[in-house]
Amino acid sequence: MSKEVQNDEDVKSALRQIFGEDVSPETLKNYAHKYAELMAYYRCALMEVETKFNVLDEEFSLQFDRNPIESIKGRIKRPESIHKKLLKYGLDISIENIKNNINDIAGIRVVCSFLDDVYVLADALLKQDDITLIEKKDYIKNPKENGYRSLHLIVGVPIFLAHEKRIMNVEIQLRTIAMDFWASLEHQLRYKKDFVYTDEMLRELKECAETSSELDLRMENLRHKVRSSLDSYNRIHS
Ligand code: GTP
Ligand code: MG
Repeated sequence: MSKEVQNDEDVKSALRQIFGEDVSPETLKNYAHKYAELMAYYRCALMEVETKFNVLDEEFSLQFDRNPIESIKGRIKRPESIHKKLLKYGLDISIENIKNNINDIAGIRVVCSFLDDVYVLADALLKQDDITLIEKKDYIKNPKENGYRSLHLIVGVPIFLAHEKRIMNVEIQLRTIAMDFWASLEHQLRYKKDFVYTDEMLRELKECAETSSELDLRMENLRHKVRSSLDSYNRIHS
């Protein structure tokens, strides 16, 4: 899992950009300290969720002799992005506002082998009694206009500190390899923010998403065929 280290200097420099160079060193120090503490809690939450997925992957591999998870990647949102989002919402920069208004500070992306795995893993996670579902967006059943597909969950997960328990929000994106392939390339394509796609480009992009979706369905079907053929073989030879 890639973890971006956000040291005090990172936070202070992001703050100077917002408050200006004349912000008092005391304010900066105070804020940076509280900010670092909050981010540490989010990193703990990320570890909890990542472990939960690793446990599920392990169980699957014991039961069915295969791994439903291709990769898991976690990230903590960078201070510039957090502050930009608060400003976009018309909110002041404060620790309270970060805690109460931004749900995707801790984000984890789980790339699955097959389409079924996305839902099996999501259901297994949501059944756990320490997990609370806060929001679910199923962009697989209802893809975005550009063709983007993934299952997005925002969950509350407890972290246990020496003297208290805290519930932290984590954004989880579950998708197949094909969905991840499309999303990664689409993200690269619109790297230049002021670039505007032509209608034809948008159509092409959407068609690529549809082709990759067909591929997911064909692979899923193939998997079912392989499994039933293996089952018959085992029945005959047992
Ligand atoms: P923001 O978090 O402000 O983006 O708004 P939101 O919470 O309504 O967004 P949503 O849940 O729809 O998407 C959040 C994340 O999903 C983004 O930060 C991306 O990582 C991913 N995502 C959403 N739409 C797209 C898309 O069209 N293309 C790609 N490549 N990724 C997307
Ligand atoms: Mg979001």
